[in-house]
Amino acid sequence: MSATATATARASLPVLPADRLAGVLPDIERHIVGPIIADIERLKQERDAIVLAHNYMTPDIFHGVADLAGDSLQLARMAAETDASVIVMAGVHFMAETAKILSPDRTVLIPDLKAGCSLAESITPDDIAQLRRAHPGAPVITYVNTSAAVKAASDITCTSSNAVEVVRSLGTDKVIFIPDRYLGSWVASQVPDIEVVIYDGACEVHERFTGAEVEELRTLHDGVAVLAHPECPPDVLAAADVVGSTKLMHDWVRDHQPSSVAMITECSMADNVAADAPETEFIRPCNMCPHMKRITIQNIRTSLETMTHEVVVDPDTAARARRAVEAMLAVA
Ligand code: 13P
Ligand code: SF4
Repeated sequence: MSATATATARASLPVLPADRLAGVLPDIERHIVGPIIADIERLKQERDAIVLAHNYMTPDIFHGVADLAGDSLQLARMAAETDASVIVMAGVHFMAETAKILSPDRTVLIPDLKAGCSLAESITPDDIAQLRRAHPGAPVITYVNTSAAVKAASDITCTSSNAVEVVRSLGTDKVIFIPDRYLGSWVASQVPDIEVVIYDGACEVHERFTGAEVEELRTLHDGVAVLAHPECPPDVLAAADVVGSTKLMHDWVRDHQPSSVAMITECSMADNVAADAPETEFIRPCNMCPHMKRITIQNIRTSLETMTHEVVVDPDTAARARRAVEAMLAVA
């Protein structure tokens, strides 16, 4: 579902909270989460709040309480454009920080402060300074899966949706791309005329997939369409039919309605996309992101009840990071 479609669906209330999950969750689960969703809807009204949800949220969140849902790029745009006083980020910490960087006057809440990311942990501003010394003059392109301090030390950010366009937009023959080595090498393969200096970070979820797994899938499920996130290792990407962000994967399945599909990414993707492709068989060779799974429908309710945990970014860091994020938003 596109962000716009999700927003439209939410705008056409009243729909009883549990009914939003009809066909998504079994009846018993719908009845359990129905009252929690009703509480969240009431609290959203009282707090003038919206819930932004990443595509890796569980279906009760994605279909039940998200006002807007999407990939990292869509979440950044939504955060920049919302009129709500409070943004609850149903995603990981760097996503909440990006929302705060782009909407400094709004209160940004994350239901669990420990919802981190192995990529964001893998690099510091000092590492960037070292890279700049080793490659003088090369601009630093930073994947949004990083801290505000790392964004602040960068020239421009990118997401998996727009990384190639961002690299090309700079017009240089060499760039420094941080921190994901697999996304970096995939981007390098798309821009053979540009030298891409790659850092050594990796996503602990996507790096576990292997090309052999994909080949085995194809043997077991004749004709399966294989979609892979670019944080996967190169042998996985080489064996996939389509490589792209979580939004691209969702749109591809909705538009192509394949008879069977395997999305080589986080487990909740298939659960969420399935609602838009009822005839498609989803083969689920997924890995779970432990950080994303720290966000639950229960702690979203608590977050709104107690107005915790507020995400704070030092104003000077935020201003420098905003330049890098806005430079990206101006490209794609
Ligand atoms: P997307 O921007 O493709 O949603 O990816 C975010 C992410 O964290 C993937 O692991
Ligand atoms: Fe980070 Fe990987 Fe989890 Fe995405 S899936 S939030 S890149 S650890």
